[in-house]
Amino acid sequence: MLLNMKNLLSVAKDNHFAVPAFNISDYSMFLAVMKAAEAENAPVIIEIHPHELDCTGDDITESIKAVAHKASVPVVLHLDHGKSVELCKKCIDLGFNSVMIDASAEEYEENIRQTKEVVEYAHARGVVAELGAIAGIEDDVNVDDKYGAFTHPDQVVDFVTRTGIDSLAIAIGTAHGAYKFKPGQNPQLRFDILEEIQEKLPGFPLVLHGASSVPQASLKVLNTYGGKMPEAIGIPETMLREASRKAVCKINVGTDLRVAYVGALRKALYENPEKFDARAFITPAMDAVTALI
Ligand code: 13P
Repeated sequence: MLLNMKNLLSVAKDNHFAVPAFNISDYSMFLAVMKAAEAENAPVIIEIHPHELDCTGDDITESIKAVAHKASVPVVLHLDHGKSVELCKKCIDLGFNSVMIDASAEEYEENIRQTKEVVEYAHARGVVAELGAIAGIEDDVNVDDKYGAFTHPDQVVDFVTRTGIDSLAIAIGTAHGAYKFKPGQNPQLRFDILEEIQEKLPGFPLVLHGASSVPQASLKVLNTYGGKMPEAIGIPETMLREASRKAVCKINVGTDLRVAYVGALRKALYENPEKFDARAFITPAMDAVTALI
């Protein structure tokens, strides 16, 4: 069934678990995610980034909704990192039941204005809005400031109250992509900041972006069959579990799916040079994603 994000996150919050939000690159990856969710009897958020939507085309929305309606588990269709008000409105009209407005590149007041506009449009149509941005490994961190490039707890109340958003993505040390930490660096998340934020916003659903664990087994397959991703390091699963026991209700994962899919694809291509039926390659890639999840 297709479910409202607000209801799903509120169940997650009350029961201290987080729902995974998987970024899908195409329809085959979507089906692989659904297979895993149904096998685990677990709710799932299907997340599409604007670049992915450019690749799949808008019509994939209809196919996702059709599959979701028939699914035995709750499914939410969510726009990831909507960079403009127009794109968020377009996706709401397409039938997404949750959107993220990411106006973080704008000045604070303009960020609030754009976010509020999306929230009002979304709420009038029964859709919810997530907001926020996270720091990447390349971002400068001011070491003199306790919060550096992380989310400042004093700012969150103002932001949430003035925009009316339904959930907030926070920056506590995760980062998008496969290289979240420098080689040799110990993965660390700022749980102290997470706790401060949750004290300021009691009961409010928080979101963790950039949460891939980059399993070394998937990486090994990819690198064995011609991939070049040395020294990729992700977020240890123990840390994700700890975050989900606190106020984190939604955990975004995209890189892990891509590494598993492309690794299995490379392996199948390498091992079957005589084949040209696409299914011989796409099926193991989908199976790798299902198994990983
Ligand atoms: P990863 O790159 O860690 O998978 O993060 C995905 C994400 O946060 C999408 O918004």
